[in-house]
Amino acid sequence: MHVVGNKLNIKSTVVKNICCIGAGYVGGPTMAVIAKHCPEIQVNVVDLNKNRINSWNDINLNNLPIFEPGLDLIIKEVRGKNLHFSTDVKDSVIQADLIFIAVNTPTKSKGIGAGQASDLRWIEGCVREISEYAQGHTIVVEKSTLPVRTAEVIEKILNTKSKNDDKTFSILSNPEFLSEGTAIDDLENPNRVLIGGEDELAIKTLYDIYAKWVNKEKIICTNIWSSELSKLTANAFLAQRISSINAISALCEKTGADINEVTNAVGKDERIGEKFLKSGPGFGGSCFKKDILNLVYLCNYFNLPEVADYWMNIINLNHWQQKRISKLIIEKLFGTVTGKKIAILGFSFKANTNDTRESPAIQICKDLLDEGAKLAIHDPRVSQKNIEFELGIKSKNIDESDSRIKGDSLTQEIYFYWCENIKDSVNGADAVVILTEWNEYKNLKPNLFNTNMRKPAWIFDCRDVLNNFQVDKNTINYWRVGKG
Ligand code: UDX
Ligand code: ADP
Repeated sequence: MHVVGNKLNIKSTVVKNICCIGAGYVGGPTMAVIAKHCPEIQVNVVDLNKNRINSWNDINLNNLPIFEPGLDLIIKEVRGKNLHFSTDVKDSVIQADLIFIAVNTPTKSKGIGAGQASDLRWIEGCVREISEYAQGHTIVVEKSTLPVRTAEVIEKILNTKSKNDDKTFSILSNPEFLSEGTAIDDLENPNRVLIGGEDELAIKTLYDIYAKWVNKEKIICTNIWSSELSKLTANAFLAQRISSINAISALCEKTGADINEVTNAVGKDERIGEKFLKSGPGFGGSCFKKDILNLVYLCNYFNLPEVADYWMNIINLNHWQQKRISKLIIEKLFGTVTGKKIAILGFSFKANTNDTRESPAIQICKDLLDEGAKLAIHDPRVSQKNIEFELGIKSKNIDESDSRIKGDSLTQEIYFYWCENIKDSVNGADAVVILTEWNEYKNLKPNLFNTNMRKPAWIFDCRDVLNNFQVDKNTINYWRVGKG
């Protein structure tokens, strides 16, 4: 443990008020769990996005801006008591003893480091607001995943400004390891909590907040750079496992091996482990790609091109996996999908979330649309608007009259069909492509496909959800990832 860890018997500062800047997938659930376990602390979550804040405050808990199992119950318990959502950044910063920064840090789209480095404009924006409005001593905690040494930048902005004032700051890094879809469980029972920093009093103060519900053995204190780099490394390692298993899935399909049998045998080795070895259409989510690109940028910056290439290949393989699936679908459908109806089941990047950022469904759908396919997309949680945004095209609602799209329709207009139920999506389709492992898809009855699809039909089970599934083999072909 870092030296500060040995001094955790010091008395911490009493925190009465926490502000979290950024009410997204990280800020929202994390603050809800902190508020639940620390009733004596007032927690204000602020965001520039008015609509998002309105949704967080919606009386109907089905309208919360993010879907996470268990989140609604916690919100019901603490919202309005010690958890508040607002757009009033200034006032919340003024009141705060401790501020979490949980704003978005996407990959830069232009300028130096475009396509690799993180765009820090939102970080800088809120740090400037903190420097302006904070009062007295404030602990500033970076929660967003950031390039290594960002804390240094934050410190420079805060401490330069405060030289003339009586305000002071301590900067900590406290990366979030929650995984979407299981965020509440991950926050309630984390594998570890990581706190990086130099100021022992600030570390102890944050440590004591987590210690309210997290076993102390699991709270790791390090220096600030180790903390920042640990987050990037953890995500790079996880993504590497997915790319590794997806690479082997392609080999399985060529050789007659079964990826499930291979992962079972390989995962039994305790040094490898069974978790996070499920092959699929490639990893998505806001973190993996962004964090690896960050790592690649850092390695190149520090003149380590071989290390940069090593990590870059994890992303290249992920992209290749998505492309090979769309190519395979087209090949199996006699080399053309033009005018054919293809049911897409699942659009979120994984089950139990409405998040679509970097979802493999985006690339696969775009490839099929480019080839002229008529997509009928269903997802239990992703909104029609969100899919339109990700694909950059409009949708049409499917209804009885057009639920059986004619196979020979050769219209040039590009759109997709939005389907509220699975049957509308599958009805009359030449192929079904399962892209997210939602529970809803695990129990689908073979009859749904046998009676409703246009024959000969294909099912592409990219998530291996249809276990021991019996379809009419004379008319329906079944393909699953890693088996062929
Ligand atoms: C990830 C990290 O797990 C988390 O610790 C970090 O804080 C944020 O990034 P998240 O992106 O929410 O979390 O989801 P995760 O469960 O890691 O899944 C990422 C992607 O990998 C998903 O698209 C998922 O479908 C895919 N995946 C995961 C697989 O294809 N196979 C697996 O075995 C596991
Ligand atoms: P994450 O998945 O990391 O939580 P999100 O994009 O879901 O990322 O959430 C980040 C939130 O931060 C967005 O809702 C965005 O509006 C908000 N945000 C960005 N910059 C600021 C700022 N300066 N002040 C307040 N909120 C901000």
